Amino acid sequence: MNPPAFSPAAERNKAAILSALHALLPPEGAALEIASGTGQHVAWFAAGLPGWTWQPSDARRDALHSIAAHTAQAHLTNIRPPVLLDAMAADWLPVDCRFDLIYCANMVHVAPWPACAALMAGSARHLRGGGRLVTYGPYLEADVPTSSGNLAFDAALRQENPEWGIRRREDVEAVAAQAGLQLSQRVEMPANNLLLVWCA
Ligand SMILES: C[S@@+](CC[C@H](N)C(=O)[O-])C[C@H]1O[C@@H](n2cnc3c(N)ncnc32)[C@H](O)[C@@H]1O
Repeated sequence: MNPPAFSPAAERNKAAILSALHALLPPEGAALEIASGTGQHVAWFAAGLPGWTWQPSDARRDALHSIAAHTAQAHLTNIRPPVLLDAMAADWLPVDCRFDLIYCANMVHVAPWPACAALMAGSARHLRGGGRLVTYGPYLEADVPTSSGNLAFDAALRQENPEWGIRRREDVEAVAAQAGLQLSQRVEMPANNLLLVWCA
């Protein structure tokens, strides 16, 4: 069996994201992670938030193996087996699957723009009353100068795939509003990233 994939960026940012989640969340709840990638985040968060149950997912079948390997190494009982879930799909999960938190890091800039609206619509379908969507990653903002690092990252993303690129926060707010979600918190994170909290 292949070893799990490893993301240096996920290793660098997981502690800061967990701190922000600690400040936001009650001690218990049910969380769905969209675009779990390697599985490093969910393994770290499940250890740091033991009152929460975590459902990891990704659109890529090969990611599921890595997520399962990282979660097995964590020896935790509050992580469900990863599921194949494409944020663009009309049906994510059975309609009665509801979560207190939906967490999605670093997906909307490496997916076509319609994936962002799909993330918002799916989250609106699967959040419990009072639940929150948390997105994390780099954003462009009209009222904040973009760092040179994010400008270079955006150019590199667009060169790799013209459908990718760092999203404008104001555009994300517009598609969120179409799904019935509003931006309720904006948390500045290390390395010019933002953690955004969205509520119904
Ligand atoms: C840059 S990685 C981020 C992984 C992890 N969230 C992190 O922050 O380390 C982007 C992930 O988004 C996933 N992804 C891309 N498009 C997706 C979609 N439409 N639905 C679900 N996952 C998607 C990819 O398979 C990949 O695992």
